[in-house]
Amino acid sequence: MTDAVLANIEGGLLTLTINRPKALNALNSDVLAALEAHIDACSTDSSIRCVVITGAGEKAFVAGADIAQMSQLTPGEAAHFAALGHAVFTKLAKLSVPVIAAVNGFCLGGGCELALACDIVYASETAHFGQPEVKLGLIPGFGGTQRLARRIGEMRALELVVTGRMVRADEAKQIGLCVDTFPADALLARVTKIAGTIAKRGPVAVRLAKRVQRLGVEAPLAVANAFEAEAFGNLFDTADAREGMTAFLEKRDAAFGNR
Ligand code: CAA
Repeated sequence: MTDAVLANIEGGLLTLTINRPKALNALNSDVLAALEAHIDACSTDSSIRCVVITGAGEKAFVAGADIAQMSQLTPGEAAHFAALGHAVFTKLAKLSVPVIAAVNGFCLGGGCELALACDIVYASETAHFGQPEVKLGLIPGFGGTQRLARRIGEMRALELVVTGRMVRADEAKQIGLCVDTFPADALLARVTKIAGTIAKRGPVAVRLAKRVQRLGVEAPLAVANAFEAEAFGNLFDTADAREGMTAFLEKRDAAFGNR
């Protein structure tokens, strides 16, 4: 595998670092292929409880799809490039464990779309978000016209997409592009700590919580509630739920076995 995306596994936590700092971690086809390979490996590794995605260097999370590479594409190749981005980000969103974006700087275009495919987003106080594609005469191509509206609402999303303006971290938090902001030099440590908390929770329950919510929001409420009730019931067949409830009653920490 190339070093376009760095991977580190520690304590059940997989950290993926997009690693093209000289190009502000812009997404070219090598980065997308490396990201996909790491996502595929993660999907079959039952020891991983949470994934964190960040960008190398101090300036950027990801400043978008690679404009130099895109400028050479034919319409057909561009459609294929967009489909590739969609496929990789959808795989990421579908990982069974929670995926957290630690946005450590510019988070633009394809970078913002990468953050939108993550389950939870934290940002440094110096981060900037945006979908600036219209400045290039383009539109978002990796899901930005869809996931942004679903996350922050249609009106705010379209305002960002058609102006291409940048959103500073405090506004990003206010409109729901990220849940919280931290000082830049503390971001990764704070996010790693939160991911570590998730890694200690009942693993089967964490995975089911994500699955039920992700599928449920796309379904009518009655169907989604029925799905939740069934999943809730199924958990009572797991050793972890027995252990969790017993540990509470015995006033001790639960020792979950991922079963
Ligand atoms: N693609 C390719 N290279 C990029 C890049 C991108 N998206 N963003 C930055 N870079 C490169 C620059 O070309 C520059 O390279 P050189 O040193 O070789 O010249 C290097 O990264 C540093 O960038 P700047 O000198 O521009 O840094 P800055 O601090 O002056 O500006 C910035 C930072 C405001 C983020 C600016 O780089 C910028 O506007 N980048 C482009 C942002 C953008 O338009 N993103 C959307 C891309 S389209 C897309 O993503 C489509 C999609 O949805 C799939």
